[in-house]
This record gives sequence, structure tokens and C-alpha cells, in this order.
Amino acid sequence: MLSIENVSSGYGKIGVLSEINIRLEENSILGVLGRNGMGKSTLIKVLSGLLPCHSGKIFLDNEDITNYPPHLRAQKKISTIVQGRGIFPRLQVIENLMLGKLLQTTVKKDRLDEVFGYFPILSERTNQVAGTLSGGEQQMLAIGRAIMSDPKSCF
Ligand SMILES: Nc1ncnc2c1ncn2[C@@H]1O[C@H](COP(=O)(O)OP(=O)(O)OP(=O)(O)O)[C@@H](O)[C@H]1O
Ligand SMILES: [Mg+2]
Repeated sequence: MLSIENVSSGYGKIGVLSEINIRLEENSILGVLGRNGMGKSTLIKVLSGLLPCHSGKIFLDNEDITNYPPHLRAQKKISTIVQGRGIFPRLQVIENLMLGKLLQTTVKKDRLDEVFGYFPILSERTNQVAGTLSGGEQQMLAIGRAIMSDPKSCF
């Protein structure tokens, strides 16, 4: 039903997906596993048409949909469920973290170094716009922001 052939993609000059090949039959379920930032969500973006292929082809029922825009793919019943973390996507990583303690008047200590200790990637990406982090990285940011409020309990 869905055939992904030698698809490569990424963000600008940054390559994330390299010659991916997947064949999906009707009524089947495929799990794609990989560490944070490996490109799972990027693959979903490519399939939904939000991100162009650098090379390769995508076929749906033998129809070449590689260059179809998202709304055409949606009409063809390709649906996407995106990750959501409740972070502020247009603010930088560091701004999101600082917002965590903004309303706290009784924060005893600054826990930024602790957050960076748990999640070193955040310390490398302080100025990245949070919405462009990978899903897992956004989850780290969401947890980090919670820690910044120096909580007693965290759900
Ligand atoms: N818009 C963007 N601009 C620049 N880099 C991006 C952008 N979107 C994602 N990236 C980077 O591309 C890489 C792959 O991200 P992607 O979201 O596909 O990972 P993932 O496999 O879904 O990870 P996770 O398990 O954490 O959700 C990451 O290093 C991420 O920071
Ligand atoms: Mg993801």
C-alpha cells in the first residue's frame, strides 16, 4: 500500500534520513524504533508532506505522491498524529527553562546546572527554538522546565 523507496531528507543542508526503504501492506502496523533525535518524527513529516524528500520516492497504492502537498495526502487518507509536549515552541530552550521558575517566589536554588546534568543536549541547544527540538528533546525540556520550578512533587 505504502512504499518508501530510497528516501533521504533533512533540514536544509543537515541530513537526517538517509536512503530509507519501507514497504507497508494494507492492515499492517509498523513500529519504527530509534534513539532520540534519530529521525522518526522527521520520517513522519516526510510522509505527511510537511518536509520534502531530498531524494527518493513515495508511492501510495502505486501512485507517486512524492511531490504531493500535505492537504492532497490528507485527502488520500494519510493522517498524522504529532508529538506534543506543552512547551513554548517559538521560544528558545533557555527561555522555556527560565519560564519554569518565573512564577516561583520561593525557589531556593537555581537548578539549571542540575537540568543540564540530566539532559546535556539541552545545554548544547540553549538558543535553539524549542519547537524545532526532536520530540524526546522536547520531553526533556518539559521535564527540565518542571525541575526549574523546584517542585515538591511532579506529575
Ligand atoms: N526544524 C528543524 N530544524 C533543525 N533541526 C531539526 C528540525 N527538526 C528536527 N531537527 C533535528 O533533526 C534530528 C531528528 O529529529 P526527529 O524529530 O526526527 O527525531 P526523533 O527520532 O523523532 O526523536 P525523538 O525520539 O526524540 O522524538 C534531531 O537532531 C533534531 O534536533
Ligand atoms: Mg519524534
